Parts: sequence; structure tokens; C-alpha cells
Amino acid sequence: MERLKQIILAKGKVLSNTVLKVDAFLNHQIDPSLMEEIGKEFADRFADAGITKILTLESSGIAPAVMAGLVLKVPVVFARKRKSLTLTEHLYSAQVHSFTKQETNEISISQSFITQDDTVLIIDDFLANGQAVFGLIDILKQAKATIAGIGIVIEKSFQDGGKSIRNAGYRVESLARIAHLSDGNVTFLEEEN
Ligand code: G4P
Ligand code: NA
Ligand code: NA
Repeated sequence: MERLKQIILAKGKVLSNTVLKVDAFLNHQIDPSLMEEIGKEFADRFADAGITKILTLESSGIAPAVMAGLVLKVPVVFARKRKSLTLTEHLYSAQVHSFTKQETNEISISQSFITQDDTVLIIDDFLANGQAVFGLIDILKQAKATIAGIGIVIEKSFQDGGKSIRNAGYRVESLARIAHLSDGNVTFLEEEN
């Protein structure tokens, strides 16, 4: 997605060879107009997939997921990372280990919001090692829902997540794929050859 790549180049900050800071439009301040276009792009790519629900993970997946849900006219469920005062129903839960943060979180959704009749699109902001996505897949398997695919805003293709999820047989649509981060520069995958 060209506009997303331009904004990454203009406003992203390369913190190291593995981490891209995008606080200016995605992870802290949010650019609603960009989110709208991202939502339309996900909706376009999965237009024929029969999506009935979108599943994401709090917090940064919510903005792009809601915009996609608005266009596809389906509800958006976000898995929670912390115990909630009101999330007292029966839950589907999964353990998500972050190699980046060196911590494990339990993520959960209420069993009432996703069922075996649902065809679900998973959306997240970043794809690094893929642990968050595998946790969401785990939850959807528990719910016996159909998994239509995964929509990612920014995929770091030099990390293993994209490969692992595609090798597991899932469709992954990433709007920007980063081949590498080095010397403060972002190189997208298409520019490689
Ligand atoms: P994985 O799920 O693909 O294995 O990713 P990982 O454990 O590495 O990611 C942990 C957190 O760090 C996630 O956010 C993820 O979005 C974020 N992250 C990973 N790589 C980058 C990066 O290069 N840049 C930025 N800005 N974030 C990155 P989170 O802890 O779930 O936070 P939230 O923003 O969703 O609240
Ligand atoms: Na994040
Ligand atoms: Na995230």
C-alpha cells in the first residue's frame, strides 16, 4: 500500500536493526485517515472471503481492525491481555510469548462473541515472530471458527512470523513488508530485486 509506505518513510523512526517506531500514526498517535484507507484495503483483499467477524489484539490492532470492520460491516472483537473486571464469562485463552519483550501474556476472549459459524479475519498492526497471531489462531481453533486469513499493517519480513504462518497454510496479507532496517533506513521487500 503506497501511502502507508510513504508515511512509514516520512514518520517512522528506525530504533535499531529490528525495531521500527511508528508512534506518530499507529502505536500512540493514530492517523484516522490512514486507518480508513488501511481498513478499505483489508476489506478489498478479503472481499470474497465471507468474513463474519474480525479478531484483533489490544491495543494497537484495534484501530485498523475497526476500520476494516466498518467497511466489511462486521463486528470487531479484540482479545484482552489483562484480566478485565467485566470479562467474567467463559473464556477462550492462549499464551503469547513475546521474544521482543521477553514476557508471556495470557490473551482471552469471551466465548460468546466467536462461534463455529464465524469466518474470521485476524488483523494486527505488526508481524514480527508471529506469536500474537498464533495465539489468536489458537483461540479461533478452540471456538471452531473458520480462519479466512490474516491482515497485517506492517510485516517485518526479516523475522520469522510471516514465513511460519504462511507455512502453516494461512493466507497472510501485509500492507507493508519490510525487508530490512539498517543505518536508520527502511527497505521494503519489493525494492530488493
Ligand atoms: P510477534 O507477536 O509477531 O511475535 O511480535 P512480538 O512479540 O515481537 O511483539 C510484541 C509487541 O511489540 C507487540 O505490541 C508488537 O506489535 C510490537 N512490535 C514488534 N515489533 C515491532 C516493531 O518493530 N515496531 C513496533 N512499533 N512495535 C513492534 P504489543 O506489546 O502487543 O503492544 P500494542 O501496541 O498492541 O499495545
Ligand atoms: Na504494537
Ligand atoms: Na500489536
